[in-house]
Amino acid sequence: MSANKYLGIIFDLDGVLCSTDEYHYEAWKAIAEEIDINNFTPKDNNRQRGVSRMESLEILLEKSERKFTDKEKLILADKKNQRYKELLNNINSFDLSDEVRVALNTLRKAGIKLAIGSSSKNAGLILERLGLGNFFDVVVDGNSITKSKPNPEVFLKAAQMIGLQPSQCLVVEDAISGIEAGTAGGFDTAGIGGVMSYPKTTYPLRDFSQIMNIVFAN
Ligand code: G6P
Ligand code: MG
Repeated sequence: MSANKYLGIIFDLDGVLCSTDEYHYEAWKAIAEEIDINNFTPKDNNRQRGVSRMESLEILLEKSERKFTDKEKLILADKKNQRYKELLNNINSFDLSDEVRVALNTLRKAGIKLAIGSSSKNAGLILERLGLGNFFDVVVDGNSITKSKPNPEVFLKAAQMIGLQPSQCLVVEDAISGIEAGTAGGFDTAGIGGVMSYPKTTYPLRDFSQIMNIVFAN
């Protein structure tokens, strides 16, 4: 029997297991320029992390004077997704860093349940391209939730599907919306990048391998 506090880990995907967050930014930037928004910055893009495609579009449109109809918004979101998917064609299993690969395999060998909790509707495609199509015990993504982060639905669903309580799982995130979602759901969180020093982040992760220290020391 394991004495670990955390019996499951729920990983966000974009910006945690791979750098697709950079492709989201590039694709949104192209859409921004098409509608004459020339001041869309990485800071705006940070607010889009973890939130659904349509909500991300709304964040972008805050920078426009123009009003867009629902139909126009759908067209813009679709265009962004087409551009994003073109960029995803660049991804293959070499985009999974050794650090991430070793950590995932070590955790798997230790019997920790491993899940994905992502807002993206492209999560399945990305996992396939990374060579992780069948790796995770559970994948909850943008196709199976009705409320995106900071709502905790995605993580609660993942915990339920791996048969664990939130207190038994660690959520790994790169977005404020994700740390908020984890916290609201009763999970401890590990924060990468910009959310390392976010006040609600339980454990700052300087590098991915520190997840092992957290899991095996608790
Ligand atoms: C992730 C990204 C968000 C993105 C969302 C939806 O959570 O961090 O920036 O908006 O997924 O992605 P999708 O692939 O469905 O457009
Ligand atoms: Mg993310």
